[in-house]
Amino acid sequence: MKYSRYQMYNGHPFKLGLFGANCSSGRAINKLPERWLADWDSCEKMAKMADDAGIDFILPIGRWKGYGGETDFQGTTFETISWATGLLAHTKRLTIFGTIHAPLFNPMVVAKQMVTADHVGRGRFGLNIVVGWNEPEFQMSGIQQKEHGNRYEFAEDWINAIKLMWNEKEPFDFDTDYFHLKNVVAKPKLYSDPSPLIINAGQSEIGRSFALRHCHAFFTNFRETDVKKSAEFVSKFKTAASRINREVNVYTQGHVVCRKTRKEAHEYFHHLTTEGVDYEAIHEVLRLKGVNPENTPNYDQFVLNFPPKNIGYPIIGSPDHVAKKFKKMHNAGLSGIAFSLVHYVNELPLIASEVMPRLEKLGLRVS
Ligand SMILES: Cc1cc2nc3c(=O)[nH]c(=O)nc-3n(C[C@H](O)[C@H](O)[C@H](O)COP(=O)(O)O)c2cc1C
Repeated sequence: MKYSRYQMYNGHPFKLGLFGANCSSGRAINKLPERWLADWDSCEKMAKMADDAGIDFILPIGRWKGYGGETDFQGTTFETISWATGLLAHTKRLTIFGTIHAPLFNPMVVAKQMVTADHVGRGRFGLNIVVGWNEPEFQMSGIQQKEHGNRYEFAEDWINAIKLMWNEKEPFDFDTDYFHLKNVVAKPKLYSDPSPLIINAGQSEIGRSFALRHCHAFFTNFRETDVKKSAEFVSKFKTAASRINREVNVYTQGHVVCRKTRKEAHEYFHHLTTEGVDYEAIHEVLRLKGVNPENTPNYDQFVLNFPPKNIGYPIIGSPDHVAKKFKKMHNAGLSGIAFSLVHYVNELPLIASEVMPRLEKLGLRVS
């Protein structure tokens, strides 16, 4: 089903979204003086600027605990549904997502929180479902993290219960392995459609099949070195969706450093990923992912190589280069990108004034 009033279904062949701005330092593990602090005034400014510039969506990260280090990377974060609700009140056009950990939110409570956000945004709220992976976050919540396969089973029941709350007019019971809900009522319903836009970024087989059944868009990584492989993946995913009578668009994520010249952009990227790095935080990120000196040969070199890789797919260059990279992604069948910036407010104007018009010329955006 198409939700035409959402910007995610507007006429632009390649959609643009800002990713990670609810977290301190965004997605770049850096200690630069200009790093993003994710304070409310800056977030509000970013959202208004993005709305005026014609950006299509804003996607926050569901993060509960920082990674430590000198800057406590992503240690200051706004809860994403309330963050989205506030920003929806200040914007008119773009879709704003909440990134919601299914195991941490009671369905009855969160269904209504999302309805509230959706009414504030006149139907522009979107849901990014995550099942979680970060053990210290679960320890902090007192909720036991499930085995990987069970996480998506739980999320399946969770979203099915919520969909009923959004649509059932009569009181209902919901009895599954994970939930025993009695006599459930929920009013008001969503602003107008039966569902907000739902997205997910599970990379495992079970995560992907969850996305096929429940999501309108799915996020995957783009491989520039093998565009053909990326294109095959997108095509297979869409075919699998159409086999079950669903339409699921595929998006990707990355980090943009755009400067007037390619040289300036690459110099800044080098600075960001060498002397600008908060290495203490990198060690903690790696520890959480199970990478340590004992199990990793050349660990020190691995640490040095990590920042440019961890930042997401790098899109570094002049407005021409950035536009051409987006074109490559579009050629692979991708519907858009959620990208992060070191400083969203300082860096967005160049993208709006120089990259977006180039995207129009390349046929990726309509005027
Ligand atoms: C674009 C994107 C956004 C994501 N956002 C979050 C997030 O905010 N919080 C989180 O815990 N995981 C997030 N993830 C992780 C995924 O939800 C997922 O857990 C991960 O890709 C591993 O896949 P799996 O769950 O199928 O094993 C994100 C991944 C991507 C690619």
